[in-house]
Amino acid sequence: MKEDIIKLLKKHTGLKDVQLEIPPNPILGDYAFPCFQLCKKYKLPAHEIAKNLAKELQQVKGISVIEPNGPYLNFFINKQDLINTILPEILTQKSKYGSSKIGKQQKIIIEFSQANTHKAFHVGHLRGTCLGESLARIFEFLDYKVIRANYQGDTGAHVAKWLWYYQKYQKNKTFPKKDVEEYIANIYVNAVKKLTSNPKLQDEVDKINYNLENNKDTKLTSLWKKTRDLSLKEFEKIYKELDTKFDVYFFEREMEQPGKEIVKQLLEKKIAEISDGATIVDLEKYNLGKWVLLRKDGTCLYSAKDLALAKIKFEKYKVKESIYVVGAAQNLHLQQLFKTLELLNFKKPLYHLSFTEVRLPTGKMSSRTGENILYSDMKQELLREAVIQTKQHNSKLSKKEIERISKQTSSAAIKYVMLSQASTKPIIFDHKKALEFEGETGPYLQYTHARICSILKKEKPQAVKEFSSLVSLEEQNLINKLSKFQNVIRKSAKELKVNLLTIYLFELSKTFNEFYHTCSILKATEPLKQERLALALATKITLQNGLNLLAISSPESM
Ligand code: ARG
Repeated sequence: MKEDIIKLLKKHTGLKDVQLEIPPNPILGDYAFPCFQLCKKYKLPAHEIAKNLAKELQQVKGISVIEPNGPYLNFFINKQDLINTILPEILTQKSKYGSSKIGKQQKIIIEFSQANTHKAFHVGHLRGTCLGESLARIFEFLDYKVIRANYQGDTGAHVAKWLWYYQKYQKNKTFPKKDVEEYIANIYVNAVKKLTSNPKLQDEVDKINYNLENNKDTKLTSLWKKTRDLSLKEFEKIYKELDTKFDVYFFEREMEQPGKEIVKQLLEKKIAEISDGATIVDLEKYNLGKWVLLRKDGTCLYSAKDLALAKIKFEKYKVKESIYVVGAAQNLHLQQLFKTLELLNFKKPLYHLSFTEVRLPTGKMSSRTGENILYSDMKQELLREAVIQTKQHNSKLSKKEIERISKQTSSAAIKYVMLSQASTKPIIFDHKKALEFEGETGPYLQYTHARICSILKKEKPQAVKEFSSLVSLEEQNLINKLSKFQNVIRKSAKELKVNLLTIYLFELSKTFNEFYHTCSILKATEPLKQERLALALATKITLQNGLNLLAISSPESM
């Protein structure tokens, strides 16, 4: 219906682009067209234009009233028409409801997660992983061909520090079989502590960095390989747990040579220069400072590697668009990267989905390691809490059931928190709140889904030919909400804002529960009962499709 209104407005006014707004209060209408944009053309004030258009426009199918309101032209959807289009659409499209073909199988690459080997997978990586996975699912739902890419830092300063500490202080100790993540994280933390207390030792680390990059020490290289694999294996377990997968893995190590090649080109083209022995790009003109590409000893920095990676994504994978899901600490770095690529005449659609940190109410750092909070710690604590809550909620469950439900709710709780906040806002992770069954949480969405399933188990809905009994406010609100799903998905993709979808699903659940508490489903008389059952089923389908886009499971019982 929205499309029909847009078509009509375009035809009537000659505008190329028509944007409709949703009035803040539904009493004002379902859609509003701001008339300011036509003032120049008609040489009239906006409220006059709104009045004229209301008279001139012919009826649109599915719209009952077109009414001027100040500078706006408001459209009211015919509720009966909406019900009779949207419910059959959801019930026939099922798992495809909300999807679209707008992507036309265009290839895009989404790079996310990017945990570094020889370091912990912390809650910042968790946020980026959840965001990236969800975004990938959303774009796929819109018919894009998404390449999920990971880019892991397997060389560089942190790896050199790790290997240095290990060789110097840990040698001959075998690697543990359990708590490997923690073991790896601790060595890095200890290395940093040692270096802070005695900065002179940094020379030894630099030597290791040089030897590793230039393959000067076979023993070192083999230790690097072994420990790198140790890290990567741990990450794979986490990805499995989070229901995430990758199509390609890029590594910083592979970008060193191509990175140096690009630096050569940059020097030839006089975009880069040598300054104090290091190679830099001077971006002061653009307020982006000086960007260092190579160290004095010629070793390759993060910056130069990213130049290589950006090109490989387009040249080897033939993508049309490239999205970076990367923490806000790297905002400047990515601006420098995009600007340098532009100077190189590499003008491609590059987007940065930037996100900020995750903290606990007690602070950002883990008291145990002094580092950012580990994902594994957060997960374990949440699971413990979830077990307590599940038992409280239902005392008759078997041990196995408690385990299943707690796993599901704790995972949903984490993901909901990671995805429901605007990505530019820090997350303060409150374990208890995240798990609440009543509230803006993942378990609440799952619970709503399970509640609908249990109703539908009691009575299977039959096919309804014509909906004519769903006239209460709660029913109409729910139908209205269901009809917005497609738009929300598109907007989430267009603006790279997964939180729009997350919040929508919360509102949908709330609207359903309002309906459920006011309108009896199973005790209603026919044909109302069948229509309400169909409405419940449509809600279940929409909720499930949405949860799937967030990589949150939809349990049938809880
Ligand atoms: N591994 C990097 C880090 O942890 C993040 C990589 C971001 N992606 C990129 N293309 N620079 O800091």
